[in-house]
Amino acid sequence: MSTYYKGKRAATYNRIWKTFSEKTLATTVDYIKVSRLYEAPKAQGKHPRILDVACGTGLLLQKLAQLSPQAELYGIDQSSDMLAQAQKILANEPHIHLTQGSLKSDKMTALPYQPASFDLITCTNAFHYLDNPRAVLQSLATLLSPHGQLVLEDYARRPFPFPWKPFEWLIKGVDPQHNKAYTRTEAQQICEAAGLQILAANDFSAGPLWQCWIIRAEVRKSN
Ligand SMILES: C[S@@+](CC[C@H](N)C(=O)[O-])C[C@H]1O[C@@H](n2cnc3c(N)ncnc32)[C@H](O)[C@@H]1O
Repeated sequence: MSTYYKGKRAATYNRIWKTFSEKTLATTVDYIKVSRLYEAPKAQGKHPRILDVACGTGLLLQKLAQLSPQAELYGIDQSSDMLAQAQKILANEPHIHLTQGSLKSDKMTALPYQPASFDLITCTNAFHYLDNPRAVLQSLATLLSPHGQLVLEDYARRPFPFPWKPFEWLIKGVDPQHNKAYTRTEAQQICEAAGLQILAANDFSAGPLWQCWIIRAEVRKSN
């Protein structure tokens, strides 16, 4: 269980990380292929189903509800205090379902979702926490519908001359659950090893300290 996203840190998260969240979450929303999100569900007379994993305080879910007001939205996070913040900002959103749960490779099968049931899965600013990211992505891939898309975003490990090692040491001092930040190339390789096909990928800046990457992927079709 995270020691960071508790109590006051959860209560002040949106304020402390405002600039970072605005940039990373706006970039994430822009990266969603909206036509694809609607087309297949519409053909089946359904509304899109969206899952935001490690949803934190619900800021992305709020944006996704604006993007797709009819969508059925689900959020999962391991921190009850972050989810309590999400409950507050999403109180008037009837289509959003929040669940406390952990993205751990040995616990993924316990996630309360049907296979192939989501048209979009998002995961922002949390990939660096995963102890087995490939296994987690494999499990998320089973939740994507055949036309579904995964949009994955996180901050990147920065190359020399940025002093990444001392910077990461400081991050770990504040937040011991931080596991490892990946470059975009590494993240793409993990996606591919998990059976995903990369549709688009990009780097962007979220301020002087934070370089980020973003990937859109789908389940690789077998020939
Ligand atoms: C930096 S916050 C990002 C929250 C949100 N995705 C956003 O971008 O605003 C990281 C979140 O990941 C959650 N988290 C970290 N590891 C997790 C895990 N293994 N399973 C579920 N949630 C996790 C934390 O509780 C926290 O809410």
